[in-house]
Amino acid sequence: MRKQIKNNVYWVGKNHWDLREFHGSEFTTNKGSSYNSYLILEEKTGLIDTVYEPFTLEFIHNLATEIDLKKIDFIVVNHAEPDHSGALAALLEIIPGTPVYCTDNGVKSLIGLYHRPDWNLIPVKTGDKIAVGNNKELIFIQAAMIHWPDSMFCYLTGDNILFSNDAFGQHYCSELLFNDLVDQGELWAETYKYYANIITPFSHLVARKLEEIKQMGLPIDCICTSHGIVWRNNPAQIVEKYAAFAGGYRDNQITVIYDTMYHGTQTMAENIVKGINQADPLVNVKLFSASTTDLSDLITEIFKSKAILIGSPTVHNGVLYTIAGLMEFINGMKFKNKKAATFGTYGWHDVSSKTIQAGLKEAGFEIIMEPITANWRPDQTLLDLCVEYGKRFAVLTT
Ligand code: FEO
Repeated sequence: MRKQIKNNVYWVGKNHWDLREFHGSEFTTNKGSSYNSYLILEEKTGLIDTVYEPFTLEFIHNLATEIDLKKIDFIVVNHAEPDHSGALAALLEIIPGTPVYCTDNGVKSLIGLYHRPDWNLIPVKTGDKIAVGNNKELIFIQAAMIHWPDSMFCYLTGDNILFSNDAFGQHYCSELLFNDLVDQGELWAETYKYYANIITPFSHLVARKLEEIKQMGLPIDCICTSHGIVWRNNPAQIVEKYAAFAGGYRDNQITVIYDTMYHGTQTMAENIVKGINQADPLVNVKLFSASTTDLSDLITEIFKSKAILIGSPTVHNGVLYTIAGLMEFINGMKFKNKKAATFGTYGWHDVSSKTIQAGLKEAGFEIIMEPITANWRPDQTLLDLCVEYGKRFAVLTT
């Protein structure tokens, strides 16, 4: 069933309520997601993006109940990732030769993914436009690396709608569709999580793109994302939030993350938290076990933090694998403007805290204190030192 966005623009996507993982198992989607496809019914009929491949038949069936598919004049592929282009091949079997507008990199990605160089793929660049009738135009805006090299936005004049694809989205499912109708707590939690886990590595490009769009002077009444809700109420709020996200975002939060074998490193973590809280009762200090906390949520908490502490016991010649996995993810994030320190227990040689410290330094964190370590199980003297360590850390991050 189509849903009206504004005037002759409609949502024709797919709500995926029971999606719980995205990008394989890399990202958890506890609130589901959506694959937003949009139909423009002006003098010309245009389709912007499709849906994830498993929903191809449903998507095409639904679309065919709304319009005569043969009347589709053009398709825009803002981004070739299969969650948006999945139904394209089947659709083009029905309407072969239909122009498909995408970037140069979109041409490469689509051919690489679907091996159909015979498709009528038309590369476009920023500023290129097509008339859709009724004095309206669709203007293309390249948005490389938000979040693939091929990504682009497009903008419908007259209705002032920005189709932003992955940017400004959430992995969040709601039949309510619009930002002003959904639960605001859920919306913003998923907006943070999505940016933290998917967009953070490209923050420098986000900042540049936001400035470029500002310079274009396009009034924006509505932002149609490819996942989650449509921003129709004060769409500037998400643009402003992205500007903050892209500029080395940090709340007044310190996050302490550990894994543990016999509760030694855990007890150290708890006492460090105690010290932080005593020194600065207003800082939002949070404590997480890496072995029992969702990795995507951990990345979100780190994204929101001004500083972090990570600890692990030494095992074999390194760290527990949960911490190793977290470190691998952190290294790809290119976080900016964050401070860090490390801690951990060891038996016969001390490796873990230094390994984590080296990893955080390589990932761009400012190391503000040398590690605190405990040989074997921490005794009360060492735990008191952890409290003092936490206090000093809080002071240095104020
Ligand atoms: Fe939603 Fe980068 O695909």
